[in-house]
Amino acid sequence: MDGPAGSGKSTVARCIAEKLGLLYLDSGAMYRAVTLLAIQEELAADSPKLIDSVKACHIEFMDNGRTILLDAEDVSKQIRTPAVNRLVADVAKIPEIRHEIVKHQQRIGAEGSIIAEGRDLTTIVFPNADFKFYLDASVTERAKRRLADLHAQNIDATLAAVEAEIRERDEKDTTREHSPLRTAPDAVVVDTTDKTIEEVVDLIIAHVCA
Ligand code: CDP
Repeated sequence: MDGPAGSGKSTVARCIAEKLGLLYLDSGAMYRAVTLLAIQEELAADSPKLIDSVKACHIEFMDNGRTILLDAEDVSKQIRTPAVNRLVADVAKIPEIRHEIVKHQQRIGAEGSIIAEGRDLTTIVFPNADFKFYLDASVTERAKRRLADLHAQNIDATLAAVEAEIRERDEKDTTREHSPLRTAPDAVVVDTTDKTIEEVVDLIIAHVCA
């Protein structure tokens, strides 16, 4: 499943994973974890040292994607901070970093049945996936969802600021040279703007189980 920020991918994927007994792979969390590594080691996104650090680091998921460990440290909360939001698309555009992360994702996929979500899962990581979906929604709706998430965590932000951050990341994710966000020709496109999570989950499960 692919789609832009706030299209509902992670909530929908987690819910489907639970209902269908699949492993949930949050590919964005991996790019977020290596972005945190760059911040912690004070390395620029395009620094060759960062590529070495990414090759040497261990990223692991626990509790079906709820917890992410970077070199055995639980970084689940730290990877969602504004500092990581700002830098992640710049780290994710580096081809050598993508190469390492994609290899890791394909290893996870080879271990059993999974539902994976991100930007290039249906095009690059698992081009032969049994089912492909592209989730989308209007930018304002996506910003509203993100704002609600932030408020739920007691983080203050304005709709305008969240919308600006999403627009900027969309622009970087869709125009980068390597593995840009795009719709696979054989993906089912789901516009989630006026749909609840349950409606999207039901629609996808109906498609998979038809
Ligand atoms: O949850 P949200 O959609 O905001 O983002 P995410 O899935 O956590 O991904 C964060 C960022 O990582 C994206 O904006 C992309 O720059 C990058 N990413 C990517 O390049 N390829 C993926 N398969 C997943 C994420």
